[in-house]
Amino acid sequence: MNNAFLAQLFDWGASKKKGALWFINGVLRRLGIPFVVRRAIDPTRDMTNLEQRLNLWHLASQPLAYGVEGNVVELGCFDGKTAVIFARVIEQLAPDRQLHLYDHFRIGFNLTGRDIQQEVINNFQTAGCKLPVIHNEDFRVTVPGELPEQIAFIHIDCGFGDDVEMHRATVLYLLQHLYPRMPQGAIAVLMDYHDPTVSPGFNFGSIGNSGS
Ligand SMILES: C[S@@+](CC[C@H](N)C(=O)[O-])C[C@H]1O[C@@H](n2cnc3c(N)ncnc32)[C@H](O)[C@@H]1O
Repeated sequence: MNNAFLAQLFDWGASKKKGALWFINGVLRRLGIPFVVRRAIDPTRDMTNLEQRLNLWHLASQPLAYGVEGNVVELGCFDGKTAVIFARVIEQLAPDRQLHLYDHFRIGFNLTGRDIQQEVINNFQTAGCKLPVIHNEDFRVTVPGELPEQIAFIHIDCGFGDDVEMHRATVLYLLQHLYPRMPQGAIAVLMDYHDPTVSPGFNFGSIGNSGS
């Protein structure tokens, strides 16, 4: 199955040159300072790196390749750049399945003046993918009422730099409604996950949440 599109679509920057952060982090590492400086996420460009996209591609492929029943859903699609991965997987492995995207498109990330739902459509058209079913409202309105009966693959990615406790409550709310719809063999990927006993976490460039 061809996955070359993962590196090519949307200027995802797989070939970015080593820059100042690479140099600074190298110096910190050599000095034995346990600190990593991260570039702030730039939502006008990308929210995932190539490794994350490859993981999503493999994880979404597995239940469909093994014939697990159900559709594919993403809770938090923003402009659809991870969603096109799922659309491609469906197209290649199980074209009878539907892709459902959930987002209220009430722009976080300090962005104004953008029609993000239209950008989803544009990105799908650029990728040459069948358009998804879009559920444009808060999750508490669309979930569980607008969820498919059975779900083979789920991507939860609903952080946008808001309050960490609210974010936690949202993820727990979603899991409570999604889990009963997952047949045996289904997969859920949590982009928003943090275990404080394992790491301090990362929340849009500061300490907090969202290790993938
Ligand atoms: C990190 S972005 C998703 C990025 C996308 N998966 C990608 O990588 O291309 C998080 C999205 O979750 C959405 N979101 C967060 N909380 C929400 C809620 N309660 N209801 C609906 N959408 C929500 C935001 O509008 C935002 O677009």
